[in-house]
Amino acid sequence: MRPGFMKMLAQLVCIFLYVFHVNARRLTEISPTIDVRYYGVHADGVTDDSTVFLEAWAAACASSGDVKLLIPPATYFLNPVKFSGPCPYVNTLTVYQEGYIKASTDLSKYVSGNDWVQFGNMNGLRITGGGTFDGQGNFSWSYDECPKTKFCNVLPTSVMFVNLNDTIIYGMNSVNPKFFHVGVLQCQNFYASEMYIEASEDSPNTDGIHIERSSGVTIHDVFIGTGDDCISIGQGTTDILISNITCGPGHGISVGSLGKYPNEGDVRGLVVRDSTITNTMNGVRIKTWQDSPSSSSATNITFENIQMKNVNNPIIIDQTYCPENLCNGDTVPSRVSISDVYFKEINGTSASQVAVTLNCSQGTPCQNIHLEDILLKYVGEELPTAVCAYADTYFSAPMLPLPCN
Ligand SMILES: *[C@@H]1O[C@H](CO)[C@@H](O)[C@H](O)[C@H]1NC(C)=O
Ligand SMILES: *[C@@H]1O[C@H](CO)[C@@H](O)[C@H](O)[C@H]1NC(C)=O
Ligand SMILES: *[C@@H]1O[C@H](CO)[C@@H](O)[C@H](O)[C@H]1NC(C)=O
Ligand SMILES: *[C@@H]1O[C@H](CO)[C@@H](O)[C@H](O)[C@H]1NC(C)=O
Ligand SMILES: *[C@@H]1O[C@H](CO)[C@@H](O)[C@H](O)[C@H]1NC(C)=O
Ligand SMILES: *[C@@H]1O[C@H](CO)[C@@H](O)[C@H](O)[C@H]1NC(C)=O
Repeated sequence: MRPGFMKMLAQLVCIFLYVFHVNARRLTEISPTIDVRYYGVHADGVTDDSTVFLEAWAAACASSGDVKLLIPPATYFLNPVKFSGPCPYVNTLTVYQEGYIKASTDLSKYVSGNDWVQFGNMNGLRITGGGTFDGQGNFSWSYDECPKTKFCNVLPTSVMFVNLNDTIIYGMNSVNPKFFHVGVLQCQNFYASEMYIEASEDSPNTDGIHIERSSGVTIHDVFIGTGDDCISIGQGTTDILISNITCGPGHGISVGSLGKYPNEGDVRGLVVRDSTITNTMNGVRIKTWQDSPSSSSATNITFENIQMKNVNNPIIIDQTYCPENLCNGDTVPSRVSISDVYFKEINGTSASQVAVTLNCSQGTPCQNIHLEDILLKYVGEELPTAVCAYADTYFSAPMLPLPCN
């Protein structure tokens, strides 16, 4: 045999072995699919399925590569559960949630401070499938003390995302939570869209999506009609983009309340745009507590291209927040400083005559507040008005209401 032939044969064998090796590795890494039905789920909407769900989660979390966890269409009943990482070999874990999941209404099942369904401590979570989380909150709303007490026992949030990196939620619904619908806490690179979030207008503290101590959060194409803020942006949040939100009823899209607790983080780099807000208490709002225990700031915030329909306070900065006089010294000004805020292209109708309120803190007046292309009509006969206090404000025409001095 010619040496050239031998060399070619050896090369072929090498290529074959290499291809075989790669394919074998792919085979062992092939996306595992875990189905809650394999674990004996009851799926009758009455029997508690939380143990089964947790077993399925543990199997998914222990697999490797791109893992799927299927929750097929059916009605499930769940006590509080924590779907936790780390999932060390998982690249992405996709929960195909097509079910209608109902929460336990027995408040004694919820350890104080815990939420209903929590996803935590992992990278690469995906949730899709268009399923629904029903907090069955109307049974517990009468136990909610938070509208009346500053430091209250909070009821469980329906779906809480905690300490996650690189999360994508696409198609997930929440109805009737006991407290907030969705919480995003300590997450980096969190993306959510195609969500439907609904509770009655009179349900207490049912914020749609609450974001806190997180960065790189994008929320878009979401419908929210609820009893409190459609979206609330809490302390310690940076680089947040919120767009194409249909909000109402509810309390609007809100930064805050800031300054309730000591040592809160700043809010920086927020954009809210291309949204419609209808029949709500507020439109776009920044609110901070009076008598805040330490100083912090809210800066570089833009609200742009937003349509208001019959909104009570379409544009509002309120640094005198003190519901039902819950702060001790109601005369101590807020220590949260607000600066570089842009309100642009905001039009539609105001349900109250005061369409623009900029009530800043006497202690730390607002700096660099811009209003551009504002066109808000009062639903009544009179012209709309603007109210300002301690606000360093730049107006540019067209502007209705007329700017305050
Ligand atoms: C998320 O990423 C940050 C660094 O970017 C890291 O400190 C943190 O541990 C990560 N969280 C998880 C749950 O892996
Ligand atoms: C809660 O809502 C359910 C379904 O709409 C209803 O059957 C139940 O009576 C309500 N409970 C309370 C306490 O309002
Ligand atoms: C806005 O979101 C809704 C869903 O809430 C979607 O149907 C619509 O196509 C989105 N519009 C744009 C311009 O992306
Ligand atoms: C303000 O925030 C936007 C959006 O998050 C960001 O792109 C921009 O760099 C920030 N500007 C400053 C001066 O920090
Ligand atoms: C308000 O803004 C929306 C979206 O930018 C636009 O379609 C509409 O024509 C505007 N309405 C008025 C009265 O300017
Ligand atoms: C804003 O301040 C004015 C003057 O102090 C006050 O009359 C008004 O009630 C305040 N508005 C809000 C929404 O707090």
